[in-house]
Amino acid sequence: MPQFPRIVVLATGGTIAGGSANPASSARYQAATVPVATLLAAVPALQSVARIEAEQVAQVDSKDMVFAFWSALAARVRHWSGEPDVAGIVVTHGTDTLEETAMFLHLTQACPVPVVLTAAMRPSTSLSADGPLNLLDAVRVAAHPDARGKGVLVVLNQQVHAARDVTKAHTSAVDAFVSPSCGPLGFVQDDLVRIPRVPVRADNAALPAPQQWPEVEIIASYAQPGRVAVDAMVAAGVRGLVVAAAGNGSVHETLVAALKDAAATGVAVVRSSRTGAGHVAIPPVADPVAGVFVSAADLNPYKARVLLLLALAQEPGLAAEPDRLQALFASV
Ligand code: SIN
Repeated sequence: MPQFPRIVVLATGGTIAGGSANPASSARYQAATVPVATLLAAVPALQSVARIEAEQVAQVDSKDMVFAFWSALAARVRHWSGEPDVAGIVVTHGTDTLEETAMFLHLTQACPVPVVLTAAMRPSTSLSADGPLNLLDAVRVAAHPDARGKGVLVVLNQQVHAARDVTKAHTSAVDAFVSPSCGPLGFVQDDLVRIPRVPVRADNAALPAPQQWPEVEIIASYAQPGRVAVDAMVAAGVRGLVVAAAGNGSVHETLVAALKDAAATGVAVVRSSRTGAGHVAIPPVADPVAGVFVSAADLNPYKARVLLLLALAQEPGLAAEPDRLQALFASV
């Protein structure tokens, strides 16, 4: 009798745990209703890949994700990754904000064993549900030696992505997840797991999960924006603002003025891009926003916000030190 690796599945809800009375509908259903034991029972092939233990950490539609669930998840990942004999951890999640939770785990977990997030675009009760294969593939990856030392991973649609890089890029297609700046790390095809590429950052900052979460918001630059939202947020005590800038960090002059005023009061301002791929350049010294606005590198606005949240939670004074914040964004 082979001794299969011990894998822990932490379930948080999402469409992978969604159910519908109508199997022909992949759009009308209730996310986060099916318990993890039922999801596992629907994939008998798991028994010939791993010894599985499971915990229901949350049961949430991921659009409603809250910091309390992130903290609970981080604590359970840390607990299980320290248990002797646990070979890997799989997290089931909703697709809508998976990239944020993946980034959070990337930044907070040292990953002595593989941590693999997975999800589904179609509910568990639909025709051609993608969840069962995604779950099986995630367990295969978590149990595979190639996944070790690669940081937090995301497995969907037979592809393996780095948590830092992956984003949801389609409303409904099963190949909705892409890593736009550098592509996937590898693939799963039945028993064959190959992860030949090394992630941009496998060794993460291992920042602590916060006790107190600072207020960090996202705003966008577009044609003729007002400054009312920025001014209102600053008046309400926001500690950080991420701008989904146009192109390579371009921000409308009205917003630049508002954001410079915000920065002058000690609010951290980070420029990401709304384009969906590529780096936001650090401006030359002569640029009026050099040393004032921080560049998010190739992190999209949602991932940049997660990093800014954790950075300001750990050291609130960083908001007034753009150069140190810039060094952090360049290193993660
Ligand atoms: C969710 O994000 O929880 C619902 C949508 C999905 O998982 O695809």
